[in-house]
Amino acid sequence: MQENTDVLILGSGIAGLSAALELAPHVTVTLITKRAATDSNTNWAQGGIAAVVGDDDSFDEHVDNTMVAGDGLNHRDAVEMIVAEGPAAIERLRAVGVAFATDLAREGGHTRRRVLHATDITGREIQRALLERVQAHPNVRVVEHHVAIDLIRRSKSAQAHSLGERIVGAYVLDEATGAVKTFAARAVILATGGSGKVYLYTTNPDVATGDGVAMAYRARAKVANMEFFQFHPTCLYHPTAKSFLISEALRGEGGVLRRIDGTPFMDGVHPMKSLAPRDIVARAIDMELKRTGDDHVVLDLTHLDGHMMAARFPTILGTVKGFGIDFRTTPIPVVPAAHYQCGGVVTDLFGRCSVQGLYAVGEVAHTGLHGANRLASNSLLEGAVMGSRAARACRDELVGVSAPPEIVPWQPGYARPSGERVVVSHSWDEIRRTMWNYVGIVRATARLERAHRRLALLESEILEDWWKHHVTRDGIELRNIAQVGRLIVEGALRRQESRGLHYTVDFPDRDDESQLRDTVLWRGPHR
Ligand code: SIN
Repeated sequence: MQENTDVLILGSGIAGLSAALELAPHVTVTLITKRAATDSNTNWAQGGIAAVVGDDDSFDEHVDNTMVAGDGLNHRDAVEMIVAEGPAAIERLRAVGVAFATDLAREGGHTRRRVLHATDITGREIQRALLERVQAHPNVRVVEHHVAIDLIRRSKSAQAHSLGERIVGAYVLDEATGAVKTFAARAVILATGGSGKVYLYTTNPDVATGDGVAMAYRARAKVANMEFFQFHPTCLYHPTAKSFLISEALRGEGGVLRRIDGTPFMDGVHPMKSLAPRDIVARAIDMELKRTGDDHVVLDLTHLDGHMMAARFPTILGTVKGFGIDFRTTPIPVVPAAHYQCGGVVTDLFGRCSVQGLYAVGEVAHTGLHGANRLASNSLLEGAVMGSRAARACRDELVGVSAPPEIVPWQPGYARPSGERVVVSHSWDEIRRTMWNYVGIVRATARLERAHRRLALLESEILEDWWKHHVTRDGIELRNIAQVGRLIVEGALRRQESRGLHYTVDFPDRDDESQLRDTVLWRGPHR
């Protein structure tokens, strides 16, 4: 069964919802999300959204902080544009009902207070407001529990009308029925978020399986800088806690990182101490853990005003109290965990990818904003700015694009139901462990090569299974994390220097002479 729409959006975080809102008055939009519409990285964002709104702030200073964090690899045009469009994006969010607090927070790498927040549930508040508007719009259809399998690419030779070679939709698994549906569109916007689940320990929710990068790469779009994976320095360390982020905003209020024995260790590392850029803090913690043999460090807030901290961070306090830790009296045990994919599908400043008809916005995209390391709270900003901007470009482009074509339905071939789900979970675990052990915060060429060999073998076994069995959500996600893991390793092997989030003991210095470039990975043109 083929379902037609003008624009197909995959993903329901800030970028996808901003795009849908901008397009809705002009064209029909189908927004597909693989679980409930609220299951997104956006929903989990605690810290906030960075923008120049304070009287003491300037665009130049926000640009400068972003470039310093990015370690020289940011695209200045992207940084300047996104920072300059920040205040307008904030106004759009306020206009749809996002209730930001009146004060501004500070996070790592920012020299000013410039992070707008809604206590410590900023992402949830943004998602709530945007989703309410999107769901109420008659031109938008939100389809939940549908998992995109692959983008559909119509090549020049195969088409009989004026579309040219471009993306014309996606095959999508309906989880309730197991049927694979064809969604045909005049343009597709990827807003599928990141890929934290590629690593064993992550702050990301279960949906972050790199689906957009994997699908775009398979559809022969260019992907860049996947080696730059950001590890957040402070994820709660507790045997029964799953992926709970301890926001950097706590350090913005004066929280201090210490060893278990109470010694502060960031003083000699960076002038901003515990509030240094994330790559530096995460590496310092990694070094401390290796040196001392401890399994965590602590974030100490006990010297701060307990009333103020409880009012400002009610969700974090409530959650850690659930694990028996009252941060007003006891330091929080923390470890670094995979947090943010700084590379992604290559786009221009309008979200356009290297394949026609395809746009990418938010964490799935590589606009050049983040360079080698993302500045805290620049991601919601990028999602809001680029979601709207890509939607406007897409709307203009659609004037010259005809209705979706007839598409050959998904061919299941001789696939049969999968008998052994345990094989999927074993491969899933092996990939994530391999990435954690060999492609983590501190890298070495020999370990990257070992990871490459293991992932290549796993990927070939996964693909063999893929063609034999009916598609399932687990199978789709497994194929995607295997693909994205390999892209991260390939990027890391190609970058023979240490810069930002990519640190390798074999090339410990930054090399501006031969490595000041993006690592672009591409399967080549369609044949
Ligand atoms: C945090 O609250 O520490 C996360 C913010 C971000 O990743 O930008």
